[in-house]
Amino acid sequence: MQLISCTDYADMSRKAARVIAAQVRLKPQSVLGLATGSTPVGTYKELIRLHREQELDFSRVTSVNLDEYYGLSPEHGQSYHHFMRVNFFNHINISLGNTHIPDGLTKDVAKTCAEYDQLVTSLGGMDIQLLGIGNNGHIAFNEPGAFFYAQTHLVDLDEKTIKANARFFESEAEVPRQAITMGLRSILSAKLILLLASGASKAAAIAKMVKGPVDPQLPASILQLHPNVMVFADQEALALA
Ligand code: PGA
Repeated sequence: MQLISCTDYADMSRKAARVIAAQVRLKPQSVLGLATGSTPVGTYKELIRLHREQELDFSRVTSVNLDEYYGLSPEHGQSYHHFMRVNFFNHINISLGNTHIPDGLTKDVAKTCAEYDQLVTSLGGMDIQLLGIGNNGHIAFNEPGAFFYAQTHLVDLDEKTIKANARFFESEAEVPRQAITMGLRSILSAKLILLLASGASKAAAIAKMVKGPVDPQLPASILQLHPNVMVFADQEALALA
């Protein structure tokens, strides 16, 4: 695991975007594993800038997103479908047909999850997987206690996650209680993993991820077992590492 110390959020975003841009330039048909949440927004902004100013071309890229709230339609303002369009897809030349996000409205969860795993396999896995980290150490919606061997599945959200994500909703009561998420096994199949962390609220989780034992109670700690992980973290997030 390579720790890249960043001066601040903007520096973190620029550095992470540079790696993704290099990947896309070297392999135009790359498969990008994408993440939502507040942390990657700056990285997407920087990639949009590179697309506009330096002809970074996403026309042959395929994307697979980590997760979606269960029960939210793609049009819902807090769905991750909506997030990805507003924060990234609408501003670059990716073909929307090549973007994939779990269906939060599925009536057949098992089939949807199995098909998502088959899709990832048929694409040959992610060339790069972008990740944030929860203040409880989750990655995607793999919450503390997650089964390390899991692929895509339906999860009950942790109380800490519901509280942390309430800021995006009118009230905590409106935060969905479940989500469909790629599992830790799916995430570990990526060739390169970029994990982003910014702010003091992530410091304890980052310290445990880096220094602690590999422990299902801190799902991000499983990344210690992956050969190719880059952690881009600002000073506040690195304070305890
Ligand atoms: P955040 O979420 O980027 O909004 O802090 C990260 C996460 O929960 O994985």
